[in-house]
Amino acid sequence: MSTQSGNGARRVTVADLREMKRRGDPITSLTAYDYLFARLVDQAGVDVILVGDSLGQVVLGLDSTLPVTLDDMIHHARAVRRGVERALLVVDLPFLTYQISPQEALRNAGRVLQETGASAVKLEGGSDEIAQTVRTLVRAGIPVMGHLGFTPQSVNVTGVRVQGRDEDGPRRILEEARRLEEAGCFAMVLELVPGAIARTVTAQVGIPTIGIGAGAECDGQVLVLHDMLGLNPGFQPRFLRRFAEVGELASEGVGAFVRAVKEREYPAQEHTFE
Ligand code: KIV
Repeated sequence: MSTQSGNGARRVTVADLREMKRRGDPITSLTAYDYLFARLVDQAGVDVILVGDSLGQVVLGLDSTLPVTLDDMIHHARAVRRGVERALLVVDLPFLTYQISPQEALRNAGRVLQETGASAVKLEGGSDEIAQTVRTLVRAGIPVMGHLGFTPQSVNVTGVRVQGRDEDGPRRILEEARRLEEAGCFAMVLELVPGAIARTVTAQVGIPTIGIGAGAECDGQVLVLHDMLGLNPGFQPRFLRRFAEVGELASEGVGAFVRAVKEREYPAQEHTFE
C-alpha cells in the first residue's frame, strides 16, 4: 500500500486516501509550486500536495488559469518533487491539455508523470467525455483526481460562483461525481458547492472528496497555500481562513532591510569578512 521515498519515509498512496475515508480520518491537502514551500508543507504532514494550475494567479501573476501551459506545470512540479518525501504529489493538467482527445490527454499526463516524478494528475469536469479520458489514463496506469463544482478552467462560462444552487444542481453534481468514480478517479476536489451537496456526494461515493469552499463534511480539505498563508492579502473569499499572516511579516522584513541599508546600519561589523 505504501512506497518508500529516498530517505526511507513512507509515501502516501492513493490507497491510503481511500483507507482514510473509510476510517473517517480527515485528508489534508495544500498547493505548492516550488522546492522550499513544498518541503515545508511536506514536513508539516500534509497528505496530498497539489501543484495546482492556480500557479497562474499566485505565482505567474495571470488573471486566470487558462494561459498556464503544460511546460509551466512540469517546470514547477519538478521543483516541488525535490521537496516532497511523504505526501502524495498530484499535478494539475492545464487547460486544453486533456479536453481535445483521450489520446492527447494520455500523452500529456504521461509527460507529467515521467518528467516530474509526480504520482497522479488532476483534471476538471464530470461530462461523459471527461469520464472517457479518465478511463484512458487509468487504464494506462495514471491515477486521476477529479474536480467538480466550480472548475476554474471554465470560468468564462460559469463566472466565479458557488455551483449547484439551481434546481437541477444537486442531482447534476451527484451524477458527475458517480461518473468520475465509475471511470476510475481515486479522489475528487469539490470546489465552491453548498455544504449539503458536498455532504450528499461524500456519503454517496466510495472515493474521497476533498473540499475547497464546500463545507466541513468532505473527506478532506484543500487550500491554495499562498491564500491560507496570507501572501495574497486582497483575496478573502468567505471560505478562506488565513492560518498565518506571512505577507505582513514579509513586508515588514523587506521594509526593515531597506531602512537598515539606507541608514548604513546593515551590514554591520559581524556581517563583514576580515
Ligand atoms: O489549482 C488549484 O490550486 C486547485 C485547487 C483550488 C484545488 O485546483
